Formats: sequence, C-alpha cells, structure tokens
Amino acid sequence: MTVLGIETSCDETAAAIVRGPANAEILSNVVRSQIDEHTEFGGVVPEIAARAHIEVLDRIVDEAMKDAGCGWDDIDAVAATAGPGLIGGVIVGLMTAKAIAMAAGKPLVAVNHLEGHALTARLTDDLEFPFLLLLVSGGHSQFLLVKGVGDYERLGTTIDDAIGEAFDKTAKLLGLPYPGGPAVERMAAQGDVSRFKLPRPLLDRPGLDMSFAGLKTALRTQAKKLEPIDDQTVADLCAGFQRAVADVLASRTKSALALFEDRFPGRPPVVVVAGGVAANKEIRSALTSTASEANARFVAPPLQLCTDNAAMIAWAGIEKMRLGPVDDMATSPRPRWPL
Ligand code: KG4
Ligand code: ZN
Repeated sequence: MTVLGIETSCDETAAAIVRGPANAEILSNVVRSQIDEHTEFGGVVPEIAARAHIEVLDRIVDEAMKDAGCGWDDIDAVAATAGPGLIGGVIVGLMTAKAIAMAAGKPLVAVNHLEGHALTARLTDDLEFPFLLLLVSGGHSQFLLVKGVGDYERLGTTIDDAIGEAFDKTAKLLGLPYPGGPAVERMAAQGDVSRFKLPRPLLDRPGLDMSFAGLKTALRTQAKKLEPIDDQTVADLCAGFQRAVADVLASRTKSALALFEDRFPGRPPVVVVAGGVAANKEIRSALTSTASEANARFVAPPLQLCTDNAAMIAWAGIEKMRLGPVDDMATSPRPRWPL
C-alpha cells in the first residue's frame, strides 16, 4: 500500500507518502513549520495557523507527491489527521483529504493525531505490541499502553500543563523566544543545575499522573526575587527546570515499566518516546538510563518523526487499512479526541 498522509493539527503543515506495511518506506516527508508566523505573538495563534495551512497545503501535497515520484494512480488511500488539535487547522487538512480522496477515487482514513505518534516507532523499528509509550509534546504528556492498532490504554497524564507547554511558558517568562523547548535547552547547557531548588510535583504520590504548573510557578517566584535577572541567572533557572522535568519523567517511567511488567509478565519491556519534547537531550539521556536500569528496551524514533509530521499519519493510515474498512465522507473533524 502507498498512502498519502496529511497533518495540520497545530503549527506544522505536512504531507508525506509512505509505503508499507511490509518493508515500510517513507517515500517523501515534507514539513513546513509556521514558527515565523507565530514568533511575534510568543505562541501559536489558532486563526493564523488555520489560514497559513490553507495557503500552503496544496503546494505541500504537490511537493510530497513529486518528491516520492508518485502520480495519483500510485496512491492507494489518503490519510489525514481528524483530531485532536486546533480545530481550524484540522478542518483544513481533513477537508483537503476528502476532496483529494473523492476526486481521485481513493479511500479516506481519518487518523487520531495521538495514534500517529503512538504507532510511529513501528514504522522505523522492528517493534511488536504491547509497548509503553511516553508521549511528550506541546499539547500532550501521557503514558499509554499500546496493545494493538486501535487498542490503547492511558495509564497517566499531566493534570495541568503539557510538558512542551511548560517549556514554552517558562521560556516566555524568562524572555526567551518561541518555541521555548529548544531555547531553554540551549540556555540550560550554560547553567548551574544546583543553584536553584525547584520542586518535583506529584512525585510523592503513587500513580502515573504528572504536574508541571507548580514547577513553572516556583520558577517564576525565584525569578521575580532576583529581578532584573542576568543571563547567567536565566541559564541557571533553565538548567534547574530542565533537570526537574527530566527527574519527574525518569521517575514516572520507572513506575510505568514496573506496571508493564505486572501486566505482561515475561514480555520484554519496551518504552517508546514520541513528541517534540523527545528532542531534549537531557530528557532522552534520563530515559535511556531509566530503561537500562529496568532492563527495558528504549526506542526513540528519529527526531524529525518525533515532532509533528505527516509520515506518522500516512503510516497510521496503513496500519488502520490493514484492519479493514476505513472512513467515509461523513467523518467529522474533532477538536478533542482521546485515544
Ligand atoms: O510534537 P510537537 O512538535 O508538536 C505538538 O504536537 O505539540 O511538540 C512541540 C513542543 C513544543 O512545546 C516545544 O517547545 C517542545 O515540543 N520542544 C522541546 C524541544 N524541542 C521541542 N522541549 C524541550 N526540549 C527541546 N529540545
Ligand atoms: Zn503532535
């Protein structure tokens, strides 16, 4: 099967062609980021995002087709993110996919964006179900048990901010540019991690839920006391913040792996990380150590497949097509759509 995927749920306009499931191959993967449109507002503005998707999506789809050397006859289905996400963008992507599917006479697959993230590792790695997924992005922070295509169990989630959101808000309050994650990571590299004592929220409680709002507030309080803050203080605060997040994730991942072993005794434990925050080197290295201490396999797909992209949507389309009937033209965009 060769599937065209379309992704427009946040601030990336993306199209990709993927072939599979056997000998899976990404034939093209085009991503256009809207960072330039949103930078002056310090975050994603939904209306601007939707308009920017409309302006470029047709061109991005053409480019993906050309890069893959495909004509419409080579495509077996069109898969698009149908939610969850910023509704304006989701509408643009899903309606475009419907129009292409109808005009070219191809089946339509409506993909849950989170399912796209959840299944990506099966595109790049030899990976059987079940596995544990840690999804850490700008909109989501959750532990999922991935038991099969369409069979997901949420084990824990953030009770307030998503991790990427916490990075972005922290960057904003320290005067660093959007998107905040990479900016905080760059500053943290020059910081003294031991200067500020920041909390590890919720870690005193059992379960797999997480909380990051308190961490951000604690950081703001420390920053306010020292105003006006110099560059070294910003770096030290970033280092402390990043370490606190890495500690929370490592600790929760350890508990999640223990739970995996209880649920699937004798199965080799695997933890997969996905989402934009997975680009963070300190977090990756904390997760690598946690997995190795628990004798678990740690899988981190290449960065360009961890952040939002359409190859993951095309791949989820292939995985869903394998199971049988797909969606029809009545499929609606869904701003909220838990797995
Ligand atoms: O998965 P993604 O591209 O889009 C969403 O679905 O949200 O994730 C974007 C998020 C942003 O909040 C961004 O600040 C964060 O991922 N991020 C990072 C890093 N790179 C991106 N957070 C921490 N460290 C990074 N290096
Ligand atoms: Zn995402």
